Amino acid sequence: MEPFSDDRDLLTPTHLYLLGAGVSFPEHLTLQSLEILSTCNRICSNLPQSELDALPENLRAKCVSLWPLYQENRNRSENYGDVAQAVLDAVAAEPPVAWMTPGHPLIFDSVSQTLLESGRARGLNVRVVPGISCLDTILAEIGYDPAGGLLVYEATSLVMGGLPLMPAMGTLILQPSAFGSDLTHYSTEWTPDLAPLRDHLLQFFEAKHRCAFVRSYSQFSGPAQVHWRELGDLTSISFNAVAGSTLFLPPAAVDRKSAFDEGQATGTQGSAPYPVG
Ligand SMILES: C[S@@+](CC[C@H](N)C(=O)[O-])C[C@H]1O[C@@H](n2cnc3c(N)ncnc32)[C@H](O)[C@@H]1O
Repeated sequence: MEPFSDDRDLLTPTHLYLLGAGVSFPEHLTLQSLEILSTCNRICSNLPQSELDALPENLRAKCVSLWPLYQENRNRSENYGDVAQAVLDAVAAEPPVAWMTPGHPLIFDSVSQTLLESGRARGLNVRVVPGISCLDTILAEIGYDPAGGLLVYEATSLVMGGLPLMPAMGTLILQPSAFGSDLTHYSTEWTPDLAPLRDHLLQFFEAKHRCAFVRSYSQFSGPAQVHWRELGDLTSISFNAVAGSTLFLPPAAVDRKSAFDEGQATGTQGSAPYPVG
């Protein structure tokens, strides 16, 4: 995919903005995002109407919440397809349009990815506007600098793909609350069976290794929650602790020198920490 250039920016008007609402809405909206929203004719969002009501009237009046399109217990991809189509219909009717979605628009967001690809394939000028992601808020909450190394995975893909971990560096595993299911579970207390995730992680970390389900603060979900567990005890976690959270595994106290040598031998990157900034 071609990178978006500033020249193209100036020559072609933007039809569709992919824009991040931040984690705590609306206080995480950047000045850049607010300015863009004010120029759009329509703001499509997957935030519930009750959250969109927090916007000032000039923006709120242009908002349409597509939240009702996410049907409970329906295949997630089908729901995402309907939402992307609704956004493309809005772009055809009254451009420019903003698709405003939680966090950063291109971090773990299938609708944004579909809009980026199919929008550009249709000749639309689609522009991605960065936002504050849960990656930012989680690192702030736990006080971990990724200069020490950071792996980011989606929980189900990690296990289904049999993907490797590197215990010498920090790991974030998103969507543990949807683990093992391709259905939408937004309004019911569906609880995942985390045993296959635990067993996969135990191939790389000791059962005593402590990890945390982190849910950073947002105006909507309330104060930050960090629930620590030993890895071997992962499945004892409650629905409330997993819901909307990310699983953080701090680096294990491994011998960094031999981990680096092993990395060299297998062609993967070493984990020696260097000063940054
Ligand atoms: C579909 S992804 C969307 C991520 C979003 N685009 C972003 O940049 O933050 C949803 C997952 O992000 C993570 N997440 C979202 N909000 C979070 C929060 N406040 N604290 C911790 N993790 C969060 C959880 O792993 C959740 O299952």
